[in-house]
Amino acid sequence: MPSKEKEKLFDTANMLKEKTLKSSDTNFRVVVTGKGGVGKTTTSAVLSHLFAKDGYNVLAVDEDPQMNLPYALGVDKDRAKKIVPLSQNLDYIEEKTGARPGTSWGLFLNLTPDISDVVDKFGIKATDNINILVMGTVVQAATGCLCPENALLDAVMKYIALRKKEIIIMDTQAGVEHFGRALAKGFKHCVVVTDYTFNAMDVAKHTANLAKQIGIPNIYLLVNRVRSQKDIDKARMYIKDDDTVFKSVFFSPYSEEMLDIEPLVTPLIEKESEYMETIKKLKEDIEKNNNSLEKK
Ligand SMILES: Nc1ncnc2c1ncn2[C@@H]1O[C@H](COP(=O)(O)OP(=O)(O)OP(=O)(O)O)[C@@H](O)[C@H]1O
Ligand SMILES: [Mg+2]
Repeated sequence: MPSKEKEKLFDTANMLKEKTLKSSDTNFRVVVTGKGGVGKTTTSAVLSHLFAKDGYNVLAVDEDPQMNLPYALGVDKDRAKKIVPLSQNLDYIEEKTGARPGTSWGLFLNLTPDISDVVDKFGIKATDNINILVMGTVVQAATGCLCPENALLDAVMKYIALRKKEIIIMDTQAGVEHFGRALAKGFKHCVVVTDYTFNAMDVAKHTANLAKQIGIPNIYLLVNRVRSQKDIDKARMYIKDDDTVFKSVFFSPYSEEMLDIEPLVTPLIEKESEYMETIKKLKEDIEKNNNSLEKK
């Protein structure tokens, strides 16, 4: 990236940080993470629907450069193609906010932006109360790297002031790099998705420990695509010595239907199934823990 562009990104990030009106500390933020292909996007999309059904205004954030989340949430191809990821185009941000950094940004920033302001300017709507923000490619960075794109994304995330019954659910790309950046900092809940294989469980444990290190208080393990008690026993065996890092552990069954409807998840939501029962329990647990955090 040319250095002038870099400077602009840093400027914007710093400005957003300075103008952030409310700390993200008490906000309801959930990050969904885990190894590749285990079901992160599916889980993020189903959770988004469940919270929306319960009256929440949801901001679903896609941190994966593959940008699968809009499709899972039912955004059609034509609209999805038009999404300009936040990280890639500062000019677009400037155009959307109608301002250049350092000039009239203040006008926009002083409005105490909520989800709808942010979505108007940077995102799209999937349904009435599910909004999507696409982050775009984030530089794979070693811990502490000051990449301007990361600084900007971090600033935008922290800048959104959540009100009551508002929630951010962030789907991430495979791996643990986002824990090396500031992006997941300040999140109160981390859902680690895995399958019952040794490798995925290993990534899950590593991920959970990183989430704990950055101070995320509630970490959930979702063992997805289980087909039998044997799978559950196998998963339990792998976490035997590490289970204290997880607040709760859930097992969601393999669902034939999922493969027929993917990438969409919407048809699952209204139907009764063992899969949906599990994700509903996960949703309720997250909500209960968040309520008790707010009481403290
Ligand atoms: N419980 C399930 N039963 C059957 N299929 C599932 C289940 N959960 C997810 N899948 C399917 O597995 C595939 C991968 O799921 P998904 O895209 O959610 O994973 P991911 O972790 O986001 O992948 P990536 O790392 O590529 O982003 C999808 O085709 C999805 O429909
Ligand atoms: Mg995904």
